[in-house]
Amino acid sequence: MAILPGPVMGKTLISERGGREKKGATMTEATTDDPESGVNAEHWGRVYETTADDAVSWYEPEPRASLEALALADIPVRASLVDVGAGSFRLVEHLLDRGATDLTVVDIASSAFETTRSRLGSRASKVDWLVADVTQWRPDRLFEVWHDRAVFHFMTEPGQRDGYGAALRTATSAGSWLVIATFADDGPERCSGLPVKRYSGPGLIAEFASDFVAHDVWRDEHRSPGGAIQPFTWAVMRRR
Ligand SMILES: C[S@@+](CC[C@H](N)C(=O)[O-])C[C@H]1O[C@@H](n2cnc3c(N)ncnc32)[C@H](O)[C@@H]1O
Repeated sequence: MAILPGPVMGKTLISERGGREKKGATMTEATTDDPESGVNAEHWGRVYETTADDAVSWYEPEPRASLEALALADIPVRASLVDVGAGSFRLVEHLLDRGATDLTVVDIASSAFETTRSRLGSRASKVDWLVADVTQWRPDRLFEVWHDRAVFHFMTEPGQRDGYGAALRTATSAGSWLVIATFADDGPERCSGLPVKRYSGPGLIAEFASDFVAHDVWRDEHRSPGGAIQPFTWAVMRRR
């Protein structure tokens, strides 16, 4: 079903299917124990073990903005897509419903996947589940789409952003899309108790400008389950 119109990009992809959970094969070191660091497996594991899926501030019952972003760029539903820091976000379910066949989710916390896997039931085998710190991850395949909603902004240290950029470059090639959303420059200063780095549209584009060309950038407002309005900067960029 072509909910997301447009031609399938003709890239050669090395795909490792199977729908099983894998540890990040090339994670080279343990993540930090610094409680103030966004790269903190223990923190995130605890969040998903102790908080209901629909109670976290980033909960969105329908991935409206993500689907809009994919449609804006005419990204076909069958494009290979990795959702980094996916948590229990419902994007993969919505894409499976529309006919997606090559979906990977990555998260630093394995408990992040439990809700989505149980919601998906037998369909969980159609998704590759990967537990990895994205700043250390060096994937052994390419993706047509890299999707990140509310993860990059936890990379408050330059070294973390460098690691994220290295993973992004390893996972993509010319023509691949970057769909990314961070808190806007007037958005919250913290999320899940951790500090974040906020971005204006030009600031977010500048972060990836050495490898990606901006296609669209816009502001969107997320309403948390508690009713708080959180301004986000969204960007769709394409790799040179
Ligand atoms: C605010 S939540 C957003 C979850 C999801 N993207 C969404 O929009 O619902 C941030 C997510 O990023 C994950 N995360 C944080 N740091 C990470 C890292 N270094 N590598 C991979 N995942 C990470 C967390 O476990 C959590 O699921």
